[in-house]
Amino acid sequence: MNMRKVYCLNGPNLNRLGSREPEVYGSMNLDALSTETIALGSELGLDVDFRQTNSEGELISWLHEAADVKADVILNPAAFTHYSYAIRDAAVLIPKSGLKLIEVHISNPHTRELFRHNSVISEIATGVIAGFGSESYALALRALASN
Ligand code: DQA
Repeated sequence: MNMRKVYCLNGPNLNRLGSREPEVYGSMNLDALSTETIALGSELGLDVDFRQTNSEGELISWLHEAADVKADVILNPAAFTHYSYAIRDAAVLIPKSGLKLIEVHISNPHTRELFRHNSVISEIATGVIAGFGSESYALALRALASN
């Protein structure tokens, strides 16, 4: 069976999940999150390509690639969320290609520092899921699978 492709792209510092501020981000590490996301994806008929980078340029290239291969995208832009117009300009290629872009966050940025209250991505996202810990990714997969 040819499964629908989904890129799950994660930005800077998310490789430190599990040890980074566990009171904010929980105890699950990135490997476990990747394994869970890929497994739930395949149950839902989605072929998930899960990646993380600390580099803005690499994340931009992956967004270009997702548009080229026609993959929907679950994007946790991490701190880039709040200021990177370059990530936004790359991310907008996803909805412009008729694909879905779901912005996800583990924490709820609106309950945190003021600088986290603004997202330069939300305006161009198909939808936004935040504040449910690693479950935010599961909710994003379910949203894609049913839309
Ligand atoms: C985050 C929230 C961002 O504000 C922060 O910079 C992150 C992670 C989240 O998943 O909760 O690195 O995107």
